[in-house]
Amino acid sequence: MISLAEVDPDVYAAIASERERQQHRLILIASENVASAAVMQAQGDVMTNKYAEGYPGRRYYGGCEHVDTVERLAIERAMQLFGADHVNVQPHSGSTANMAAYLSVLKPGDAILGMDLANGGHLTHGHRVNFSGILFQSSSYGVDQDTGMIDYDAVEAIAKECRPKMIVVGASAYARTLDFERFRAIATAVDAHLLADIAHIAGLVAVGLHPSPLPHADFVTTTTHKTLRGPRGGMIMCRAEFAKAVDKIVFPGLQGGPLMHVIAAKAVAFKEAQSPEFRDYQQRVLTNAKVLAQELRSKGFSIVSGDTDTHLFLVDLTEKGVTGRDAETALDAAGITVNKNAIPFDSRPPAVTSGIRLGTPIVSSRGMGPDEMKLIAAYIDRVIGNLNDSTTHDAVRAEIHTLCGRFPQYRD
Ligand SMILES: Cc1ncc(COP(=O)(O)O)c(C=O)c1O
Repeated sequence: MISLAEVDPDVYAAIASERERQQHRLILIASENVASAAVMQAQGDVMTNKYAEGYPGRRYYGGCEHVDTVERLAIERAMQLFGADHVNVQPHSGSTANMAAYLSVLKPGDAILGMDLANGGHLTHGHRVNFSGILFQSSSYGVDQDTGMIDYDAVEAIAKECRPKMIVVGASAYARTLDFERFRAIATAVDAHLLADIAHIAGLVAVGLHPSPLPHADFVTTTTHKTLRGPRGGMIMCRAEFAKAVDKIVFPGLQGGPLMHVIAAKAVAFKEAQSPEFRDYQQRVLTNAKVLAQELRSKGFSIVSGDTDTHLFLVDLTEKGVTGRDAETALDAAGITVNKNAIPFDSRPPAVTSGIRLGTPIVSSRGMGPDEMKLIAAYIDRVIGNLNDSTTHDAVRAEIHTLCGRFPQYRD
């Protein structure tokens, strides 16, 4: 077989460089992870060739017997993993999954209530530049300015004011345990549906290290590529009564042919997530996040909400006199990849910000533990304390190169 290197040396070289980048950098992006070789193998195979509009046993194309097998496996495994009544594994992404959940029961113009992006929510939870804010009349809730935590009484008051038809609970940059039961009570009080978006915390939920929204929410959406460590994609779980509406809006409502190679890889990832090793991994993700936050605190960094219950947290750099943008740039020069992130009530614009978001899914996948988290905190402190000193950045980058060499991203 002719290899990629021969057919397209440019793309081959870019992929090779990306592999090197991932191997030699400390990546603390909270929304990324390291898919297993088995997941990537499933995703990179012949199922990419197959059209399979419809659902297992009900396709619009012939020759679907094998793609039916993988889609059924993905569905069954996801149902077991999360205890869901109904699962649709076809959404191409977390954003499409959210769109489908809304449109399964809402009409354009209906009111929705979600967490404000600037307080840790996601664009698809009603932001004005996103379909969710364009199609729906959206209102938002946030965190308490003093505690950095969701003020559930305030959420209830806003819900009673705006009378949403859907309330969204879930976040991209919120470090604390979400009280799904309380959100259910608020939704019930205003006669709204409840959508829990667990895109970030799905891996923790799958193994019981974060409470599950399944008993409380009408719809649960997730990405499959963050803590869940599968291929890039989305998924919707829902109560049995919404199953038909969800399936109909995913296809033919919003999507055409499903990405069967990705669905095969989702099935593999869900199998991996049922293993004891995956539970251990999630425990390490949590422990590492706690240790990293604690070490940074001991070096005078301010952690939004004071601590973390999950895989991520926000560092408020205001007192260090550093912007999120400058911190991201300096850390990048030193071999540490993070993203600048608005902190709640940030006075700086989104392209600058006063914070950075740190997450431990990737470093934990590589086998790093508390000792390495202490080293990483020390590196971050050195770089932020020497923001414009390229000699420090070079020295840290060399040490990180050695550290990463001890923890290969892929062993085989
Ligand atoms: C909470 C939340 N929901 C949805 C999404 C959207 O996922 P995707 O990027 O796959 O569209 C994200 C992505 O960061 C997210 O953090």
